[in-house]
Amino acid sequence: MSSIDYSSKIPNNVNLAEDRTLQRALEQWQPNYLSWWNDMGPDGSHGFDVYLRTATSVDPQGWAQFGYVKMPEYRWGIFLNPAEAGRKIHFGDHLGEDAWQDVPGEHRANLRRIIVTQGDTEPASVEQQRHLGLTAPSLYDLRNLFQVNVEEGRHLWAMVYLLHKYFGRDGREEGEALLERRSGQQDNPRILQAFNEPTPDWLSFFMFTYFTDRDGKFQLCALAESAFDPLARTTRFMLTEEAHHMFVGESGVSRVIQRTCQVMNELRTDDPAKLRAAGVIDLPTLQRYLNFHFSVTIDLFGADQSSNAAIFYSSGLKGRFEEGKRGDDHQLRGDAYRILQLRDGRLVEEEVPMLNALNEVLRDDYITDSVGGVSRWNKVIEKAGIDFRLKTPHKAFHRNIGSLAGIKVAPDGRVIDEQEWNAHVAEWLPTESDRAFVASLMGRVIEPGKYANWIAPPMVGINRQPIDFEYVRFN
Ligand SMILES: [Fe+2]
Ligand SMILES: [Fe+2]
Repeated sequence: MSSIDYSSKIPNNVNLAEDRTLQRALEQWQPNYLSWWNDMGPDGSHGFDVYLRTATSVDPQGWAQFGYVKMPEYRWGIFLNPAEAGRKIHFGDHLGEDAWQDVPGEHRANLRRIIVTQGDTEPASVEQQRHLGLTAPSLYDLRNLFQVNVEEGRHLWAMVYLLHKYFGRDGREEGEALLERRSGQQDNPRILQAFNEPTPDWLSFFMFTYFTDRDGKFQLCALAESAFDPLARTTRFMLTEEAHHMFVGESGVSRVIQRTCQVMNELRTDDPAKLRAAGVIDLPTLQRYLNFHFSVTIDLFGADQSSNAAIFYSSGLKGRFEEGKRGDDHQLRGDAYRILQLRDGRLVEEEVPMLNALNEVLRDDYITDSVGGVSRWNKVIEKAGIDFRLKTPHKAFHRNIGSLAGIKVAPDGRVIDEQEWNAHVAEWLPTESDRAFVASLMGRVIEPGKYANWIAPPMVGINRQPIDFEYVRFN
């Protein structure tokens, strides 16, 4: 079961050939997907030969094969982790019952909504990033961008497979709609706001893949616990691909920091103007980008109190991060959780029923995880002997969802008034001139082994190739 059939039109490890109706439906969707890729995939890239990895099996060891591929010919397909015999539901009201191999009628609408919302983010990020190839800082980075893009395309396939197989006609219609919405478009935008924001430059891209793809990781981890077994198996395999996306983000930001610190030491200055004149991104600007991407991303977890979150959990649709590793009763009925509320002009913690706070639980797990990379970035600064540390802002900073929406909070967590916010926002969030400066650095570097001035080369290449390897051939 773990080996992938590449001989059929749609590569898969789900015996697609045995389900003619499904196969036909997906084969009808396939050309629409390709025309979406041609219109909205990476700009001007269709003839390039890109050194990409392709899944050859879903075994944890060595599932990838590397080679030059033209992206429109990438073998997108349907790969599920192998079924676990006798898998049981391990949380919620159905705890201990057999996992579902089909969608129970009463959960159909909610499951469809969960799958569509997840599915919508995948093509959205490809659309957000489609112009970045024109300003890649190196062939290595260009290749990584394209790898992320083709895998987000495959994640769309993963969700569309579930819609087609388990949701009949509604599912097929949702599959079409996923190709019709457009990131940032007024009349038919993507579902979640962070996926309608532009990704205008490579610093944004690295921050996005570090912070926002990590939101993807947490959502997928929660879905990988699902009582609906096909969803659990699909998302488990998606997670193996997601790890690389976060690596691209973490190492990308790290290389930007490394280069900036190098120039700071060469010029013996921390003056942003002098550093900008030298063509590198000053650390306060990096901090503002970090503040922006962190705050926009934690909004993606939804309202801090949500009856939907309680329903999704209790009915077994969506678990917690690492549900299986937790020592509680996995039903949480009498449990409480502390969330932040504004009371008399101050942020205070208040206890609410845990089941209603599960979005907040997932957000807090995410925050713990994302702080790890920030401390690794700080190690780079520390090693350069520079007295500056990056910091994730307080979770109430710059929020637009839940009870913290609309409250003005400084990055250190102080509740402030409108006036103070306006006086300092340019120190806390990227300004027009920050973005214009970062944009001014973006130039295309396509000579093998050359890297743009604002970013250090990576330590090692992809798949043990050298860093001056020809990762993309333009023909
Ligand atoms: Fe994805
Ligand atoms: Fe991703």
